[in-house]
Amino acid sequence: MAYAGPYNLQGINYQKEEWFAKVVTKGYYISDVFLGFRKYPHIIIAVLRREGGKAWIMRATIDSDIFESFVKRAQMGRKGDAFLVNEKHELQTSPRFGGHAMEDMELPFRVEGRFQGVRIQELTVSHRSYLYGWTWLENKDWLLVIREDPEDELRPLFEAEYLIWVLLASGVMVIVAGTIAVSTAVVRRLEKTEREKAELDANLTQSGKMAALGKMAAGVAHEINNPLAIIREQAGWIKDLLEEEEIRKVPQYQEIADSVHRIEHHVERAKNVTHRMLGFARRMEPAMHAVDVSKLVAETAQFLKTEALLRNIDIRLDLADGLPATNSDPTQLQQVFLNLIDNAIDAIGKNGQITITTRLDQDKNEIAAIFADSGCGIPADKLDKIFDPFFTTKKPGEGTGLGLSIAFGIIEKLGGRITVTSTVGTGTTFTVFLPAS
Ligand SMILES: Nc1ncnc2c1ncn2[C@@H]1O[C@H](COP(=O)(O)OP(=O)(O)O)[C@@H](O)[C@H]1O
Ligand SMILES: [Mg+2]
Repeated sequence: MAYAGPYNLQGINYQKEEWFAKVVTKGYYISDVFLGFRKYPHIIIAVLRREGGKAWIMRATIDSDIFESFVKRAQMGRKGDAFLVNEKHELQTSPRFGGHAMEDMELPFRVEGRFQGVRIQELTVSHRSYLYGWTWLENKDWLLVIREDPEDELRPLFEAEYLIWVLLASGVMVIVAGTIAVSTAVVRRLEKTEREKAELDANLTQSGKMAALGKMAAGVAHEINNPLAIIREQAGWIKDLLEEEEIRKVPQYQEIADSVHRIEHHVERAKNVTHRMLGFARRMEPAMHAVDVSKLVAETAQFLKTEALLRNIDIRLDLADGLPATNSDPTQLQQVFLNLIDNAIDAIGKNGQITITTRLDQDKNEIAAIFADSGCGIPADKLDKIFDPFFTTKKPGEGTGLGLSIAFGIIEKLGGRITVTSTVGTGTTFTVFLPAS
């Protein structure tokens, strides 16, 4: 025998005890509550286990306090009671009202042997009506008895339940209708806000990019301008030297002269770029005039007519008469139009047409200048990049990637906007909107 616990049970022989016989025949044994030599109410549980031809019996002693607390959890309300009795109606746990464990308990109902399930009955005990429920425990011949006072305990409960149902039924309708109405409104609002936010974000991102890159461009332009000035000065100096008699006689004279000429030419080109970068960066305050957009478009197209003719590109003008003027900086606006036509010519290369239309959108009080070309088009994934400074698909020397970003900045500053639609292989349309004054 192995034992773990506070008592000295070594050497005790249980073989003759009743529980021992029961555990061997039934496989388990649960005692009634008894005092034993511990002088404290407790029960014993013994379990038989067979393993590999050997039989083990485990016997545990449990304080009745412990399962009493379980039983008491079944007590409800101020007058509810719950307790266990054995077959002889001896209490196994202490009821809340009268009696202690191991005392006899007088039950107000008759129990005839074991039965399945729960019996419930309303019974009168000392002129009071109680609701009794009783059931046999599984595995042990103990009866669990639960007593409730329907007057005090259940009525408010029923009333509360009824009230809850009424509230729920009417409340649910109101809540459902309210929820639908509110959520529809909220969803609409969210969608609208979301759309506005996306538009605003796109504008802000573009403006933010421009501002940051503008600063950078200004820095770069200044940094490059200084060495450029020195290079030009030195080239001028070489040119002066080349005028001297002895040097004119040097066999490589012509080669040197050509090189100097080329240096000057390319310095000039670089200066142009930095100049444009500075212009882009500075965002010079525009000098405002009342501008006739149709007239300005016609003039600008005139500039590029020769270039277009050479490439067999037809520039068609569809200009609205009597447009209201827009308050604008004509030089800058012309720069935008030039950039757009220039890009269109590049996109076509050879043989094609550019249609420039002007019209008034009376609803929005806006003037629109539409530049449609039959060029190569712009792939969708590039559409949101073309206004970025330095974005170009052209060969180095042919494109700077600044044209559209400058145009975007100018139009924004003039209080207008610029949009683009494009289909690869069909052509591209840029539209410049300007506020009519
Ligand atoms: N009309 C157009 N058709 C097709 N692509 C265009 C058109 N306009 C602009 N693009 C594209 O946008 C890019 C950026 O244009 P831009 O800012 O003017 O710089 P750049 O002309 O120096 O390349 C171009 O390189 C080209 O890929
Ligand atoms: Mg360009």
